[in-house]
Amino acid sequence: MLNQASTAQKITSVTAAKYYMDRRIPKFLSQRYEGGSGRAVTLRRNVDAFDEITFRPRAARGFEKQELATTVLDTEISMPVMIAPTGGLAIGYWDAERAEARAAGKAGTAMIVSASTGTAVEDVAAATEGPVFFQLHHLYDREHSATMIERAKRSGCAALLLTIDARGGAMRERHPRDTSFSPMSFGLGQLVRAAPQTLRRPRWLIDFLRHRSGLTVPMAPLTDGKPLPVYRIMEALSVRPTVWDDIAWIRERWEGPLVVKGVITPDDAREAVARGADAIVVSNHGGLALDGVPATISALPQIVDAVGSQTEVWFDGGVRRGSDVIKALALGARAVLIGRPAIYGVMAAGEPGVTRILELFRQEMKGVLSALGCDSVHDLTPEMVAVPDHWRP
Ligand SMILES: Cc1cc2nc3c(=O)[nH]c(=O)nc-3n(C[C@H](O)[C@H](O)[C@H](O)COP(=O)(O)O)c2cc1C
Repeated sequence: MLNQASTAQKITSVTAAKYYMDRRIPKFLSQRYEGGSGRAVTLRRNVDAFDEITFRPRAARGFEKQELATTVLDTEISMPVMIAPTGGLAIGYWDAERAEARAAGKAGTAMIVSASTGTAVEDVAAATEGPVFFQLHHLYDREHSATMIERAKRSGCAALLLTIDARGGAMRERHPRDTSFSPMSFGLGQLVRAAPQTLRRPRWLIDFLRHRSGLTVPMAPLTDGKPLPVYRIMEALSVRPTVWDDIAWIRERWEGPLVVKGVITPDDAREAVARGADAIVVSNHGGLALDGVPATISALPQIVDAVGSQTEVWFDGGVRRGSDVIKALALGARAVLIGRPAIYGVMAAGEPGVTRILELFRQEMKGVLSALGCDSVHDLTPEMVAVPDHWRP
């Protein structure tokens, strides 16, 4: 803990968090967390596209308060930055999900638990006072999907996010010498093969062996803690590409707010709204689904134009600083999710690492709001940013 607190203090940016993550966990794991699908073109685009947006500040106005608080689907959050659902974290840090949830709760914002969480959703929800949402993949075994929905409900999750863009996509390119693994079947075999890397990260290795994280925990969300035979787990966990009709099936089992995550075109946004989504997340899975789709921020203005008056539009992909959040909000996003920034924080320094990342976002957002002449995130308008013409509706 002491170690985590002192490392957290040294985190001055998302880049710094990644640096400290790389020092704590083996390379094959950081490659997994930071990488994208295919040639990672979309992943790079997501980040770089923010540089194409310029601010149009209103000088000598406002800036007395810099109010960041807002609501998402009637849930109050202290700032419009939430933690994105990310799976397979337990191998890197056994307590990652609870650490993220605690940090989010203390910062007054929401944590979204991945369907591939290493810690049961009940335990993540119990770890925090803050709001917790649950992300669902549609599974081949519908009974398991129903169980997951039921458990999210019982844990008090305030919203359910259905991810619709986990459909395979482009295969990751990697160097022939790089170690690869699947978080779902990570075991001693891989650990031994990766020995040249794991032995150089003794703090991670001791933690990993002590908690055996990743060997058993990915099944936690499905098994109520009871062991299942491996073939049943693999079968149950296989993600079935979601089809629009699945929403009606979920609606029969979930009365609360339903968010559709993974929309990148206005047509899909309209379809999601027509099917009864209460919010959508403009997202390309952080460049982990189909490589070659546009940067999410470049798709945002057209999607807001198509459905922004009917539904809340949330956003993720490539957000690395407070100024990126402000740009997305100015273009009509209600709130953003951060995936890798939170992963880097938690891998580098556990809960204090995520707290630090959220603090950095908060500080910079306030500074940018003030420089733009706004008292509140609700004062942001599209006129405060200029975007390339081809992004416009
Ligand atoms: C390592 C990793 C695991 C992820 N796992 C999931 C997941 O289980 N479910 C999901 O809906 N999205 C998942 N995502 C996508 C994130 O929710 C989010 O859309 C993306 O990370 C946002 O981009 P960013 O990382 O640039 O912030 C994952 C992303 C990463 C990097």
